[in-house]
Amino acid sequence: MKGYCKSISLVLILFMFVTSIVACRNKDAVPKTTGIQTHTPGSAAAGSKAEKNGVSGYQNVNVPVEDRVKVLLESMTIDEKVGQMAQAERGTASPNDVKKYFLGSVFSGGGSHPGKNKVEDWIKMCTGYQEAAKSTRLGIPIIYGIDSVHGHNTVNGAVIFPHNIGLGAAGDPELMKRIANVTASEMIATGVNWNFAPCIAVGRDERWGRTYESFSENPDLVSKLSVPYIKELQDKFGIIATAKHYAADGGTVWKSSSSGYPIDQGDAKITEEELMEIHIAGYKKAIEAGVKSVMVSFSSWNGVKNHGNKYLIEDVLKGKLAFKGIVVSDYEAIHQLNEKDFYHQVVASVNAGIDMFMEPNHWKKTIEALKKAVDKGDVKVERINDAVSRILRVKFEMGLFENPLGKKELAASALGLDENCEVARKAVRESLVLLKNKNNILPLKKGAKIYITGPAMDDIGVQCGGWTASWQGGTDKGGQKWTRGTTILDGFKKVARDNGGTIITDKKDAKDADVAVAVLGEKPYAEYEGDDGSLGLFDGTALDGNMKALEAVKESGLPVVVILVSGRPRIVTNEIEKWDAFIEAWLPGSEGDAVAEVLYGDYDFTGKLPVTWPVNVMQIPVSIDEMDGKKPLFEYGFGLSIAK
Ligand code: GLC
Repeated sequence: MKGYCKSISLVLILFMFVTSIVACRNKDAVPKTTGIQTHTPGSAAAGSKAEKNGVSGYQNVNVPVEDRVKVLLESMTIDEKVGQMAQAERGTASPNDVKKYFLGSVFSGGGSHPGKNKVEDWIKMCTGYQEAAKSTRLGIPIIYGIDSVHGHNTVNGAVIFPHNIGLGAAGDPELMKRIANVTASEMIATGVNWNFAPCIAVGRDERWGRTYESFSENPDLVSKLSVPYIKELQDKFGIIATAKHYAADGGTVWKSSSSGYPIDQGDAKITEEELMEIHIAGYKKAIEAGVKSVMVSFSSWNGVKNHGNKYLIEDVLKGKLAFKGIVVSDYEAIHQLNEKDFYHQVVASVNAGIDMFMEPNHWKKTIEALKKAVDKGDVKVERINDAVSRILRVKFEMGLFENPLGKKELAASALGLDENCEVARKAVRESLVLLKNKNNILPLKKGAKIYITGPAMDDIGVQCGGWTASWQGGTDKGGQKWTRGTTILDGFKKVARDNGGTIITDKKDAKDADVAVAVLGEKPYAEYEGDDGSLGLFDGTALDGNMKALEAVKESGLPVVVILVSGRPRIVTNEIEKWDAFIEAWLPGSEGDAVAEVLYGDYDFTGKLPVTWPVNVMQIPVSIDEMDGKKPLFEYGFGLSIAK
């Protein structure tokens, strides 16, 4: 029977291979359903006994996933198994490497893009990798990973949404579904099928450079927003979501980092009860929502690095929480484990429960280490089989064997479509938090003369912040916008133009204005580059032009409205008394013109603070369940509206 199945299966594999190559050939258009529907349900071959028992049975969509995993795993060599556990970066692995080493995944580090970073460049690259994977003996597709953390933010022309802290202020689960919808459709348009998002960190110390990647200090709000995002990405679009970074990445203590950074990748000095209630609760909800991957945090818990913590990964995540998906390491994070060499770092982390290794520069060494570890008995075959089963399970569950480049019908026809930008504009409006409105200076009168100034008024790069086009992001320079989109100033000009108003940007004409608006901001940053021990308006990651802007509006003698474009609260206690109105705009992204629609009253303010706003840095950490009698400047959940 086996021999008979083999010949049938060889014909089928050949047929599938030919169709898959033909389907992938058309690189110019957004790909058609490029996967091979191995059998039209009900066809003679579908579910036939031969199908179920031969190696090709795993290719049969009519076979239960766990059977497909079992059949495929049993047929894999050790090389094919450990290859699946390695994730290379696009800059260090060619399609030929995928084929030669049976790589399970390739990813883009922050900003890493092919060619001219256009859709066709991405499709060409992803098709190349998938064709190579399909050409291997077992034809296991790769997963291509990327940080599309606020839209498909690496690719030219993508819609850039507000970062998570602004979405926390919006607090709108339906909006999260729509954001996931746009992000996924633009990812499929480029052939990318794994999103290293959502970050479900519960940020507790605003000095952390990743505060803006956290929805909130409140774990319930984090889950309320991350769960619909995960379900829309995965259930509707087949994009693999990642709950990250496991666990308590947002709970580290200032100056506790063994990585040399002020707080990023630091140590969370908390009880197991606090760990579970604050920082792991979101993972429970994400797993219940079906999240397919979890990324482990660089940080440590009570002095033990998470990447080497078998209790956290194997016992809690895979045991107690019954996570059945892929546990992926963070970017070379295992190199921080206190082991004598790379081999022992691989052994310690795979035995702790890491299934796939994000090793952009050492993926070959990882493969060698895993093979050596199995040979030496330092890693049991059962652990390898568990890791590979998880990887295969996700690939089967997400339809990668049938549609490795995604389903064309779900792809955006182009990036940056107007209707998709409208979703981002809604997100901007809902994210704004009104913190002061003395004498009801807001809403602004549409026919008024407005003097507007400040380093963040006309800069798309500042609006987007980190993880935009590049890892750290960047500011507009020399008339060149960092990425496509509209600025806050564009929005003011549009409203004024349509309503007989006047926008003044030259300080010498400010005397003619009715109101002065200062748009202050932060420099773009990501991760530890954003760690800031001061959080003032004139130091740390604050923009250099903030002071000059405040001086200019003060000299004007006009009523003053201040808008802060930042990834977190900054210390404004000594300044806010001089302002008539104050709005936190967070990092609004590419559709900055929507800010003006709220300031001029087309929409009311609905945003509420997702984090406690400290009076000064000494108060930090200060949050809902660790107030310790402190009185913050603004409490969690605060936000004014115009309508009474
Ligand atoms: C980074 C981040 C992580 C990201 C990964 C890949 O270091 O910690 O959030 O997904 O590398 O870019």
